[in-house]
Amino acid sequence: MIQEIFRKVDEGRGLERDDIRYLLENRESVEEAVFEKARAITDLHFHKKIYVRGLIEFTNHCHNNCYYCGIRRDNDEVERYRITPEELESAVAVGAEAGFQTFVLQGGEDAYFTDERLADWVRRIKKIQPSCAITLSVGERSMESYARLKEAGADRFLLRHETYDPAHYKKLHPKEMDQQKRMKCLKDLKALGYQVGSGFMVGSPYQTIENLVEDFMFLQEFQPAMIGIGPYVRHHATPFRDFENGSVELTAMCIAILRLLFPTANIPSTTAMQTLAEDGRNRGILAGANVFMPNLSPPRVRKSYALYDNKAAFALEAAENLRDLKEQIAELGYEIVMSRGDFTGRENYN
Ligand code: 5AD
Repeated sequence: MIQEIFRKVDEGRGLERDDIRYLLENRESVEEAVFEKARAITDLHFHKKIYVRGLIEFTNHCHNNCYYCGIRRDNDEVERYRITPEELESAVAVGAEAGFQTFVLQGGEDAYFTDERLADWVRRIKKIQPSCAITLSVGERSMESYARLKEAGADRFLLRHETYDPAHYKKLHPKEMDQQKRMKCLKDLKALGYQVGSGFMVGSPYQTIENLVEDFMFLQEFQPAMIGIGPYVRHHATPFRDFENGSVELTAMCIAILRLLFPTANIPSTTAMQTLAEDGRNRGILAGANVFMPNLSPPRVRKSYALYDNKAAFALEAAENLRDLKEQIAELGYEIVMSRGDFTGRENYN
């Protein structure tokens, strides 16, 4: 079975439901071979380079109330913040100085950030580092809004679909949130020419293997430029506080499957991985991830952008510690590179 799966991968045929289910259900016996295959594909296209993106968490105000997320509207324990334009500019200047060529503006769905304000921020970033790519991760907006932000200079957009199954989506979100709306946003972003990233949590409450299979099937149809996944991590002040964390092992397996399916996609080893395991970041890389996103947010706000408990943000996650990160990645046999690392399709761009 595994050889047949690898043959399909080599022929670029994609995988079917049965193949993906087989890999997930037999994780323990197949993972060594799958990780090895995923790494071989990653190395072929990325030559042992890990691309870094400077992450700026600019607001934790959010009008959504997702049951899993620590910055949900009803959590009144969290100290709410917005960074100032000056803080933005100084974060970008620090990042530019360190050589970052991608900045990710990530925040809750915050009505304060009108199109005008966000567009202004995009322009400010490009003024400081004209050659950079800007990735927005600001949730659901109208097509007109996405178009304006693109016009202002945004290049990429991250919007996880969270789960493809509408019934599961309903269990994770209050009723005013709609899986179809999420899908429309993803289509709009793609139609506007953004490099679009989607993704899902692994081990979110009520998730089944079948849900994961459908997530992979959806992604194969959607063909994202980037795919971000991470284990579900509990947050003590959410309705899901009593659910178990997702598994690092299963997440690593999902990263590897993504790499089999999307040879040249940008796939990060996410903070949630590192939060649940001391070597989480490395395990993501060894499963086929090729991106890491150090935190460039002003230190005063880092504690407050807590989507889940014990979020890793201060050690090698911090952009200040880039040199240490480089060393650690070198020990793994990889090299941190600062170039934009745009997604250009199925062809190898290196
Ligand atoms: N655990 C893991 N990931 C989470 N996210 C939000 N809350 C949690 C949590 N408790 C993820 C969602 C969202 C991304 C920004 O963070 O997938 O899209």
